[in-house]
Parts: sequence; C-alpha cells; structure tokens
Amino acid sequence: SEKKQKQVRVWVDGCFDMVHFGHANAIRQAKKMGDYLLVGVHSDEEISKHKGPPVFNEHERYKMVRAIKWVDEVIEEAPYVTTLETLDKYNADFCVHGDDITTTADGQDTYHIVKGAGRYKECKRTAGVSTTDLVGRMLLVTKTHHQRDDPQVDKTNVGEIGSNQAAASPWTGVSQFLPTSNKIIQFAEGRDPLPGDRIVYVTGAFDMFHILNAKQEGDFVIVGLHSDSEVNRYKGSNFPIMNLHERVLSVLACKYVSEVVIGAPYAVTGELMDHFKVDIVCHGQTHIMPDIDGNDPYAEPKRRGKFKLLDSGNHLTTQMIIERIIAHRLEY
Ligand code: CTP
Repeated sequence: SEKKQKQVRVWVDGCFDMVHFGHANAIRQAKKMGDYLLVGVHSDEEISKHKGPPVFNEHERYKMVRAIKWVDEVIEEAPYVTTLETLDKYNADFCVHGDDITTTADGQDTYHIVKGAGRYKECKRTAGVSTTDLVGRMLLVTKTHHQRDDPQVDKTNVGEIGSNQAAASPWTGVSQFLPTSNKIIQFAEGRDPLPGDRIVYVTGAFDMFHILNAKQEGDFVIVGLHSDSEVNRYKGSNFPIMNLHERVLSVLACKYVSEVVIGAPYAVTGELMDHFKVDIVCHGQTHIMPDIDGNDPYAEPKRRGKFKLLDSGNHLTTQMIIERIIAHRLEY
C-alpha cells in the first residue's frame, strides 16, 4: 500500500537586514530541503539586543522577505536563539542556517539547542555579499574618488564585470561576488508566458530595495535591467551599488518577476515590445531621466497607448538608506 509522504516543514530564521541575494540564496536552498518553508524574522528589539539596531525596521524587513519567491510563510518577531519550542509551535521538522557561526550577545551559538537535538541542517553561505559589505559600498557613494568624471576611472573594461580585479567594473569594482550561469538558472523561473498571458514590461536599475509590484498589471512580468554603464550615466557618483549580475539575481529572487532582460536598452523600443509581445510598459513614481539624446525613453510605448505609471507604495531611495546608515553610525 502506498503511504502518503508527510510534508516536510523547514524553518529558517535571521535578521534579513538590507535583504540581498545571499539571503535569497539561503532561503532557496532551505526550501529545496523540504516542501513548506517558514521564515522567522527577528524584531528590531531582538536584533538591537544582540548586535545593534538594523538599518531596515521590522515592518520593512517582513515585507521584503515576503516578496522572496521561495518563502511560504513569514513568522514575525522570531526569537534570536532558535528553540525546540519555536520549531514545534510551527510544526517545523528542522532549522536551516548558512555555514557560518552566529552568536548571541554573550557569545553563544544561536543554534546550539537545535544542533544538540539533531534538528539542524546547513546550507552554503553565499560568498561575496553581506549586509556589512553592502553598507560599505553605499558609504563609498559619498567619496569623491568614485565620482563619474574622475579621469582615473578606467571605463574601457566595462564589458567584463566580475570579482576579478583586472576585469572589475569601474563602478561596482568593490563587489567580491563571483557570478555563474548556474546561479542564474537556480534563481530563474524558467517558464515561457502561457497563451493569453498579459505581458508587463518594467525597466530600470533595480539596484537596491525594490519590491516590484507590477504583478497586478498582468500575468507575466519582464524586468529590463540597465547595464552598469547606463545606470551610471543617469545616476552618477559610483552607482550602481550592485553590478548587473548581482541585480539579475536580486530581481529574479522576487516572486513577482517572471523573466529578466540582462542589459536592456534605456529607451523602450518597438522591436523589444514586439519581440516580447508586451501588452503594457510600467514605470514607478521615480523621475524619468531622458535618454542620451535627451528624448523620453517611453515615447514608443506612449505612442502605442501602452504605458502606465504605477505607485509601488515604496518610497525608499538608496540615498535615504545611506542617510539612515550614517545616522546609526553616529549613535555609537
Ligand atoms: N546568508 C547566506 N549568505 C550570505 C548572507 C547570509 O547564506 N551572504 C544566510 C545566513 O547564513 C542565514 C540567513 O542568510 O542562514 C539569514 O541571515 P541573517 O541573520 O540575516 O544574516 P547574516 O548572516 O548576519 O547576514 P549578513 O551578514 O548579510 O547580515
């Protein structure tokens, strides 16, 4: 007789401050270890007790974790030390964490209890990205040596971005992340639009902290990511913070995204709209910068009557986050 297999419930927890694709990759791996993924997110108070206040408040962090596509449920105010009571309360079989040691304020391993009970599994931590690393990159934005018109910045190698120093992007050369095609495959949805699907196209830098909310506009959301040099042209300084490869993973981790164009033209062309059979082109509340010739990048979709402004409900900008980080630093 066939016995129905019990559903495996997996627990993963953390601060998830400045949510990045390293967090998303841990969540992805945890989900693969079972059927249903519960993600415990610590409160601001709990994080402050153990390692100092987070940059993003708990409501922002809950919302950002909920938008990650492998998450089935977010548990708010999860305790910093994972206990068996917590796992049992949510019917979780075991807890997953990256292969790095996390400690409490008194230096104790936060997972000692679940490890002792044999209810702990490890996933591989993503090298080259962390909240601390991203904070560092954001603080560099204010440094003049990264300004776009600095003649010392060699922009001839922009095609070959990566963590290799020799091939580093002049704008995101601080990234230590090694991008691979396999990682993209693991993050991608890998499906074509279904017949009759309404296809939405959104384009931008999507550098940090964007939750794409274009799903309500259609069934299949395609994100066109601008190249690093294009983003730098209209944002200046040393933007983008994350290079194109990293932005591809961040955007693919979002549950509202079906497909990504890696290095999209700044002006939305008729060819692109025809190729992807785009029904509607959307843009959020941010100011629309003209293209390099001074033209409106949305002239073509507007001419076709296929353009719509959206309110993403997210009014955070990278600059606002930089100001928060500086303010937090001054607290100590
Ligand atoms: N994680 C990961 N790879 C990273 C960063 C985090 O796999 N580059 C994993 C952690 O191991 C943990 C989960 O993401 O299982 C949530 O981690 P969190 O408590 O938010 O993170 P930190 O380890 O403090 O991450 P960061 O240094 O980026 O703040």
